[in-house]
Amino acid sequence: TTAEKEARIWAIKEKLGEKLFIPGHHYQRDEVIQFADVTGDSLQLAQLAAENKKAEFIVFCGVHFMAETADMLTEDNQQVLLPDLKAGCSMADMANIDQTEKAWSQLKQLFGETMLPLTYVNSTAAIKAFCGKYGGATVTSSNAQKMVQWAFTQKERLLFLPDQHLGRNTAYDLGIPLEQMVVWDPIQEQLVNEFNTPLEEVKVILWKGHCSVHEKFTTSHIEQLRKNEPETKVIVHPECTHEVVRQADLNGSTHYIIETIKNAEKGTSWAIGTEMNLVQRLAKTYSDLSIVSLNPTMCACLTMNRIDLDHLLWSLEDLMEGKLRHPITVDKEITKDACLALQRMLERP
Ligand code: 13P
Ligand code: SF4
Repeated sequence: TTAEKEARIWAIKEKLGEKLFIPGHHYQRDEVIQFADVTGDSLQLAQLAAENKKAEFIVFCGVHFMAETADMLTEDNQQVLLPDLKAGCSMADMANIDQTEKAWSQLKQLFGETMLPLTYVNSTAAIKAFCGKYGGATVTSSNAQKMVQWAFTQKERLLFLPDQHLGRNTAYDLGIPLEQMVVWDPIQEQLVNEFNTPLEEVKVILWKGHCSVHEKFTTSHIEQLRKNEPETKVIVHPECTHEVVRQADLNGSTHYIIETIKNAEKGTSWAIGTEMNLVQRLAKTYSDLSIVSLNPTMCACLTMNRIDLDHLLWSLEDLMEGKLRHPITVDKEITKDACLALQRMLERP
């Protein structure tokens, strides 16, 4: 039964004590998050992984790129495990290293040495290493503005991987007009220059990737809500499209959404555009507010949801028998370059 499984996990946690560390991303299921030693958004979890020197085993309740980051930021004697290897991220899969190398060499023919690569942490370790090697850095949705500002102190223009929406929304908020942004399509291997901008005026090259969860919130959801419930405030994650972010009342990272709801005035109504598990948890936690998902059909991240009670239990029980289930170990060379990109971000929190 569920209760038996839960009891087995609690017992293993108790037995392993500080040897075991379970970080949990805010989008994880409640059945998993109850066992997390810390919860956080991707920036917080990266920082916590870097700070933890005690745990021998880090059972990461999140998705593959987060486990890779944790592996790269921890010591060699600390082993990261991902309870289900199929817990990937469709956005991270939209940029592979071959496509990126190819894009870089084609873009260099157009823009010469004027570009700096920045990658959202929602990317493979190899893409982070690519950015590290060329002087760039990683960003998260919590620090994207700061990192984009920093990037412009280094070079004239940016290649922003792999989420076009976070890139566009961040650059726009910093005053860069949409006309100064172009899109790199990695499938067609070509630049999409919607506004026919002269190349010397281009400031940001956006990789054509997106989050399949956050793209499901649309302007018609907002219009519907404005008509039926004009009092309800709309708050969305910047992985949503530019139109949705512009029409929303507020936008920001997972951490920002949680803080806003935590500090909201009693009795106010909110429609939230982010992953379903978090929206439902906020609705339960803050029952003095009215909280709904901006998309009434709910938007779940299928890969985040792959980590469930069973997978967590299997991972921990194997560990007790001395077996490492789904260890995540990033190649040394890749780690070296990727850490340059991660450190450039972590040193400006
Ligand atoms: P943050 O945790 O940085 O808000 O990112 C959201 C997300 O989609 C994680 O996969
Ligand atoms: Fe990837 Fe989107 Fe899921 Fe985050 S919510 S893990 S970006 S698919």
